[in-house]
Amino acid sequence: MKSSFPTTRALAARFPDTFLWGVATSSFQIEGAAREDGKGESIWDRFCAQPGVIADGSNGDIACDHVHRLEADLNLIYALGVGCYRFSVSWPRVQPLGQGDWNEAGFAFYERLIAGLQQRGIKASLTLNHWDLPQALQDRGGWESRETVGHFVTYAREVARRFGSRVDTITTHNEPWVVAVLGNEQGIFAPGIKSRRVMLQVAHHLLVSHGAVLRALRQDGCPAKLGIVLNLAHIVPASPLPADEAAADHGDATGRRWYADPLFKGEYPPELVAEYGADMPTIEPGDMDLIATPMDYLGVNYYMRIVARGDGQPWDPAAHGRPVSDMGWEIYPRGLTELLRLLHRDYRDHGLPPIYITENGGAFPDPTTDGHVQDDDRIAYLNTHIGAVADALDAGVPLGGYMVWSLMDNFEWASGYAKRFGIVHVDYATLTRTPKASAHWLTDLLRHWKETH
Ligand code: NOJ
Repeated sequence: MKSSFPTTRALAARFPDTFLWGVATSSFQIEGAAREDGKGESIWDRFCAQPGVIADGSNGDIACDHVHRLEADLNLIYALGVGCYRFSVSWPRVQPLGQGDWNEAGFAFYERLIAGLQQRGIKASLTLNHWDLPQALQDRGGWESRETVGHFVTYAREVARRFGSRVDTITTHNEPWVVAVLGNEQGIFAPGIKSRRVMLQVAHHLLVSHGAVLRALRQDGCPAKLGIVLNLAHIVPASPLPADEAAADHGDATGRRWYADPLFKGEYPPELVAEYGADMPTIEPGDMDLIATPMDYLGVNYYMRIVARGDGQPWDPAAHGRPVSDMGWEIYPRGLTELLRLLHRDYRDHGLPPIYITENGGAFPDPTTDGHVQDDDRIAYLNTHIGAVADALDAGVPLGGYMVWSLMDNFEWASGYAKRFGIVHVDYATLTRTPKASAHWLTDLLRHWKETH
């Protein structure tokens, strides 16, 4: 590591003793056991079966085989020294058709997972929708259909009835922008639909169902903290030219404010409402109030800066000499501080709750020698981004925690298994797990943090 980075001791000292440190995963990306124990088909199972949609032609059938290696994976998480583990429940594993019968074998898996975390003193951070919608519901219209909102509330209530008192947080949706835009407008993610109108209706139903779940779970007396996770980038114009400035504003409005404004202000950005015109979703009376139901926390997933150009062309960071990850995403830690300050500025007077960084991390082509993975790029990424979180804390942004994406290498959606985000290496031929140098670095950071508090 370059000496210009702070030591783990110095970095750790910048965080309060209440701070929550964690690692994150999601069901489809790690579980495998795609057709076992009564699990139903998800839209990602169906999507992966189409030729050409996943870079390496892979799928989630085996993934990291996490379902069969739960105990070993729990021990890995424990060994890291983290305070929390963020995971998602696969809806079709616990309710194969997305309505009707529950699958007890599916619930038994999450029961073992949550009990295993409890035994190890690790807080559970549960996400209800990390994209693997039951295919049976997609066949009836998926998130475009209002019906799915009701089914999601039923599913959420059942999960909360069983686990609500044993998990720290319940997140309704992970990254609704990705589901709406990549899944239903660009069609590069499941379910592969290409329609701006569908995208907008999907986004609206995701937000409505989020609010409806919050109200239902609170009414049921669920003690877990409740929130949502948004994917947010730091967006800047390529130049001070008005066209570039306008492109940056537009990117911020479609990517951030389209979700955060309704959640905190109960309204969609008016300039976009005008632009979308006839594609605007059907909004029922009371929907905007429902969406703006106060949350206990806001989850933010941060990976990159986006430089916007007025001519609509992508700005290539590598061509500008900027560092990129294996995803081609610009590595820009200061953007995380800026983004957090922006959220604080815009929503502090609108009930902004504590923010958790629910995902941050990098994919890198990890150098592996004799089973040892010296992933200095990832260590540098984590070091500088955690520093950026500390800067935001210093600036007065209310921050509750930070979670690394990801615990282990896993199925990176349309990129397949080639992109590795883990701090634990997975050998897909043998499914052997090997903590990378970054995992040891994180453990070291947490050891110092515990020492200083
Ligand atoms: C966000 C998503 O929540 C996660 O599933 C994905 O693997 C990471 N970003 C990296 O792209």
